[in-house]
Amino acid sequence: MTAPAKPRIAILISGRGSNMQALVEAARAPDYPVEIALVIANRPDAPGLAWAKAQGLSVLGFDHKHYESREHFEGQLQNVLELSRVDIVALAGFMRLMTASFVARWYGRMINIHPSLLPVFKGLKTHERALEAGVRIAGCTVHFVSAEMDAGPIIGQAAVPVLASDTAATLAARVLAAEHVLYPQMLALVATGKVRVDGDKIQWQDAGITEINQSTMLVSP
Ligand code: GAR
Repeated sequence: MTAPAKPRIAILISGRGSNMQALVEAARAPDYPVEIALVIANRPDAPGLAWAKAQGLSVLGFDHKHYESREHFEGQLQNVLELSRVDIVALAGFMRLMTASFVARWYGRMINIHPSLLPVFKGLKTHERALEAGVRIAGCTVHFVSAEMDAGPIIGQAAVPVLASDTAATLAARVLAAEHVLYPQMLALVATGKVRVDGDKIQWQDAGITEINQSTMLVSP
C-alpha cells in the first residue's frame, strides 16, 4: 500500500536561509509529514538558494526588482506555486511585504517565523530593541500570515533568556538556535492539520496535550 501524499511545501527566503535549512533537514526524516516542493528566493544571489540547489532541491530565484509592481511579482509567484502544486507556504526570512489579496488567498496555508515573542517587537532590529527595552526573556514566534506585518494567529513560541552580557549578536544567535527547533515542529502541526486558523484565532484539532506543550519551550543558553 502506498503512503498518502504529504503536503507540498514552498519555502520562501531572502538571504542566508538557515531556517529553510532547518526545515529541509527535518524533512529528511521519513516520518516528517511534509515534502519540500521548492525553495524560492526574491534575490537570486541569496546564499540560502545556493545551499538548497546543492541539496538537489528545486529552486527558483526571481528578483522582485524586475517586476513593475508587487501585484505583478505575486502573480508570477502564484503561477509557480500552482504549477508546483504547493499546499503550504513557509516564509523563512522572506523580507518582502505581501499584498492583502495574496495573503487572503493563502490565509491559513502560509506561515512565518519572526525573531521575537510577538506581539512585541514586530519588524526589524528586534534584538536591539529587546535589549533596549531591558526584557529578560526573548524568543521567536511561528504564526499564520495575515495582512498586517508580523501579526496573524500565533501557532507557537520559543523563549530564551536574555543575559546581562548579551549584545544584539549573541542574543540573535540564541534566538536563532531556538527558531531552528521551533519552526520544523510548528510546520509539522500545520501540515498534519493539528492546528488551523479559525477567523483570527487558532483552533487545535486532535492535538494531544504533549504537542501543545511542545509549542512553548525554554531553551537555555
Ligand atoms: C530569522 O531570524 C527570521 O526569524 C527573521 O529573519 C531571519 C532569517 O534568517 N525573519 C523576520 O524578521 C521576519 N519578520 P535565516 O535566513 O537564516 O533563516
